[in-house]
Amino acid sequence: MADRPNVKDILAKARAAQASSEGEQPAPAPVAEPVPVASPVAAVPSGRPLTLKEKLAAAKATAASAAPSAPASAAVPAAAAVVAPAASAGPAVKVPTPAELGRPLTLKEKLAAAKATAGGASAAPAAAAAAVSTAKPAAAARVLPPLAEMSDPKDLVEALRQTASKPVAGKAAVAARPAVKKENLNLPPRPNKNAAIAALQGTRRRFMIGTIPAVAWVILAWTTFSVALVAFSAMLGRFFFPNVLAEPPSTIKVGPSSQFEAGEVNERWKAEWGFWVVRSVYNGQDMLYALSTVCTHLGCPPNWLVSEQKFKCPCHGSGFYVSGVNFEGPAPRPLERFKLSVGEDGQIVVDKAQKYQEELGQWNDPDSFIPV
Ligand code: FES
Repeated sequence: MADRPNVKDILAKARAAQASSEGEQPAPAPVAEPVPVASPVAAVPSGRPLTLKEKLAAAKATAASAAPSAPASAAVPAAAAVVAPAASAGPAVKVPTPAELGRPLTLKEKLAAAKATAGGASAAPAAAAAAVSTAKPAAAARVLPPLAEMSDPKDLVEALRQTASKPVAGKAAVAARPAVKKENLNLPPRPNKNAAIAALQGTRRRFMIGTIPAVAWVILAWTTFSVALVAFSAMLGRFFFPNVLAEPPSTIKVGPSSQFEAGEVNERWKAEWGFWVVRSVYNGQDMLYALSTVCTHLGCPPNWLVSEQKFKCPCHGSGFYVSGVNFEGPAPRPLERFKLSVGEDGQIVVDKAQKYQEELGQWNDPDSFIPV
């Protein structure tokens, strides 16, 4: 674009050339009738610069006045020779020189030559387009090689043009398109849809089979945890709301005092109630008292040995007299007594809730024995 000549320069060169040619030929060709052309400057009495319109009019007037100076028969073919090739062949047009013509160029010819030179570049695409448009039928008739074998870019362009120029509608048009074989395209093979689905299903099946043991373990763990939780809740409820009281009654009737003989140790209530009813003399007084069957050492139940008239503990050998006072073994103190009372029916009532200890002097309490 930088090399493209400016129209203004071209016009200036043309005018300079015309002026020089007029100077070399002092005797111009006879003019039949001079065309009176008013000077642009004279037409503007104010002396202002010429407008573009006025300049064009002056140039046309100048060209009209110079045209008759050249032979008409020679000027017209020359102009035609300049213009016609420029339109058809563009830059390849050869502009005749003054030497070839044997005379100086007229303004028209010079303008034509200048336009041909300036428009060569722009005329080239037009000429190429014209050439392409005229060559279309011949190219359409060309038999193109298969697409995979095309190496010339021109063939590719032609194939694209043919494909684009084909009418879309109509089966005949579709059938007339150049057949392109798929095997020539070197395309990668299309994936098999059924094989892909089968592979996916196989993967899913293997995943499901692999997760079954883990799922079974999770189910087993949650089941065990749930059972343990239910059992623990039941035990907790049983602890807070027992349906029976394990505490036995603390009082029991053992019968009238007359049924116990002197020196007798009655073991009837030893196993179930944990005491003996003894009739013996203690501190010079015949009395009834209830002795606990719990050894004062570590709690084992002693046995009454009739032959030895003593209570003997089987655990560590502690011995107690019939009164309950300890005399051997590790027992630190005498056996304990329970409270005795006589009921309204005359029966002796033993109350295990009240205990009496000899070392504390509680055996002197009247509730700890019944005189007989
Ligand atoms: Fe009776 Fe040790 S428990 S002597």
